[in-house]
Amino acid sequence: MQYGYFDDSKQEYVITNPKTPVKWINYIGTLAFGGFVDHTGGALICRQDPALNRITKYISQMSASDFKGETLYLRIKQPHGYKVFSPYFVPTLDPYDLYECHVGLGYTRIVSEFYGIRTEATIFVSMGESRVIRDIKITNVSNAPVEVDAIPVVEYTHPDALKQLTNADWAPQTVVSKVVNEPDGHKVLLQYPFMYRDTKVNYFTSNWPVSSFESDRKKFLGDNEYGTWANPLSLQQAELSNWEAWRGDNIAALMHHLDTLQPGETRRLITQLGQEEGVDRALPRIQYFRDERNVERAFEKLAQFWDGYLSKLQVETPDVNMNRMLNVHNPRQCHTTKNWSRYLSLYQLGYGARGIGFRDSSQDVMGVLAQMPQEAKALIKQLLSVQRRNGSAYHQFNPLTLVASEGDSLEREDLPHYYSDDHLWVILAVCAYLKETGDLAFLDEVIPYYERDKHEQPLESGSVLDHLRRAVEFTRNDVGAHGLPLLGFADWNDTVNLRTGAESLFTANLYGKALLEMMDLSRHRSDPASAEKYAAYHAEMKERVNQCAWDGEWYVRYFDWDGTPLGSHTSDKGQIYINGQSWPVLSGFAEPLRARRALDSLRARLNTRNGIKISTPGFNGFDPKRGGITTYPPGTKENGGIFLHTNPWVMIAETLMGDGDRAFEYYDQINPAARNDRIDEYECEPYVYPQNILGDEHPQFGLARNSWLSGTASWTYQAGTQYILGIRPTFDGLMVDPCIPHAWDGFKVAREFRGVVYHITVENPDHVCQGITSVRVDGKVIKGNALPIFDGGTHQVHVVMGNTPDGEPSG
Ligand code: NOJ
Repeated sequence: MQYGYFDDSKQEYVITNPKTPVKWINYIGTLAFGGFVDHTGGALICRQDPALNRITKYISQMSASDFKGETLYLRIKQPHGYKVFSPYFVPTLDPYDLYECHVGLGYTRIVSEFYGIRTEATIFVSMGESRVIRDIKITNVSNAPVEVDAIPVVEYTHPDALKQLTNADWAPQTVVSKVVNEPDGHKVLLQYPFMYRDTKVNYFTSNWPVSSFESDRKKFLGDNEYGTWANPLSLQQAELSNWEAWRGDNIAALMHHLDTLQPGETRRLITQLGQEEGVDRALPRIQYFRDERNVERAFEKLAQFWDGYLSKLQVETPDVNMNRMLNVHNPRQCHTTKNWSRYLSLYQLGYGARGIGFRDSSQDVMGVLAQMPQEAKALIKQLLSVQRRNGSAYHQFNPLTLVASEGDSLEREDLPHYYSDDHLWVILAVCAYLKETGDLAFLDEVIPYYERDKHEQPLESGSVLDHLRRAVEFTRNDVGAHGLPLLGFADWNDTVNLRTGAESLFTANLYGKALLEMMDLSRHRSDPASAEKYAAYHAEMKERVNQCAWDGEWYVRYFDWDGTPLGSHTSDKGQIYINGQSWPVLSGFAEPLRARRALDSLRARLNTRNGIKISTPGFNGFDPKRGGITTYPPGTKENGGIFLHTNPWVMIAETLMGDGDRAFEYYDQINPAARNDRIDEYECEPYVYPQNILGDEHPQFGLARNSWLSGTASWTYQAGTQYILGIRPTFDGLMVDPCIPHAWDGFKVAREFRGVVYHITVENPDHVCQGITSVRVDGKVIKGNALPIFDGGTHQVHVVMGNTPDGEPSG
């Protein structure tokens, strides 16, 4: 079963059946102002803070057919009353002659035909502005004249999204709606909680004279709300009530009489939903965006942004689904995770205080470095500012206030209140930023540590390099009985929460990888003493890991507080963990024989046709001594599910072992675009990676959930571009080091790196997975495979793969 198709020429996914298995969404705008739109026009919009400044009421748990946040009604005048329907399908569910939802870059366009009326609604946030624009073209495609009214509707939430749900007296008692009548018949409907009257008001307006309006849901639906969103009784009256709500469930509905449309005739209605300090301040820009040409300009600007963004890296491989993901949808998802972290989606509901995750954002920035290095740097600086003086980091923070917290670890008083991996990720992020940009001066920038005195002044600051060094030292000193890093409340796997004293092999390996980065950086900075020191740290941890954590066929994953290994053949449940095997390869701790064996064990025990499971077998029953993992049935999420974020690490590990066939097989088997023709089992959007897929211990094996906001985006992008295609930034320049399926004849990449555009053609005449025999740049053979750094311009690179005695290019 298919619900749509990829339109590669327009960089869109087009949904052609509105009854998708779950709601399929798209992001518009950014965290500064924006949110998501679902495929039937429902929208969750906020400004800067989904928890405390939410604008529309979109309750994810409501069924797909319900109204959520925003819709448009059209009505056709009939001899007796009106035919009312929504061109977005929801909430009236009328039979349609055409329905298409174009999921585009920063916009959604719904095109539909109902009852001889064609509607084309383009929904987007104008860049740098706090407004959602819906540019709606309504055409009579029948052969008779029709009289059409258009009634766009928004339902507001209290900005405090949680209180909206938990206090059904305070929230409705405090919200107010007011109308502003403009001389030319336009109206601006304002809405705000009383406390924000003078500082922050929402508005809804249009470019068309408004004959009447409604701001109270009860009146709009009618009959004490026994009228429904599918059939609002007020729309059977000629006009709405013009009621300015003093309380209650506030909406904004605007009645527009579009008059008689002759066959072929089109009207254009442009609505704006925004937020400003006050109406006086809002009016000039509102008026600006009533002009169709200015809306077109804003849309053009959005298109230019995405052209520029995507142009930094474009690929041409033999695999059409890989091309789709790497050229459009994967970098686009990376942009989303960089912006929204895990704050707001259909699944991450943005209530309460979660904010930005330290480890999440440290990994997310690595997916946008080629495209927006300056924004990535700004986020890295925020991350460093919530690092403690001892080198560890707070688990999450609010990006507006920069107030940090220990996150979910606070829920367990008996366990440590830090995550043992958080601070180490930022070393990877900073080094990746430096390799991309060459901006070594960043290392000298001074950033405060988190602790403050009673005047809120930082107790201590340090250079970026100092932050990195302290992160290393924290882990070096925070070790347990085997000399391995203590687990803290958890490591990357949030849900394994063992008693104090437990040790983490994941954190040991992440520490190893961070040390490799520090060694590389120190060498590049001509600081041999530091390079030697970190090499010694690396050797020390490598020895410990290999001495105590090799289980015979694979590496164990944890040692419990009493020394019991977890993730061992002796374990009852959770005998083998994916990260236990991939990460010793990434850290360089596993020697080739063990590395191969660990990855083969992983393949034999964890691989499925829908992706590689996180562990097996799943725990089957709640056990507070193991923690959150046992709250899940076997095969779900971290308990034996396919937790997708982990899969690209295996792809990378396989490329480090030289097996391009396996790396690509693992890439392809989780590629959502490759599932488009068999999406019913999977259910989520085929154009983004989800966080999790149910594993084969679960009766609904293959079912995906939690699409969009997942570390899978950044890491699969890195695995695909930097390790499989092998176009990898290094301190010395852009490296070309592919590890591809041996069947490929080659591929092409266009990559902008430090202001230079490289057009890279790779040929694979001998059909190898790895190995380069020659590299020519602008026709001249170069030694090695790091491309020279030029002053600028466009340069042609020609790479030939083949068997070489030492794996080095022969040139
Ligand atoms: C989701 C969290 O956002 C991420 O930080 C964590 O690593 C994974 N869950 C695995 O538990």
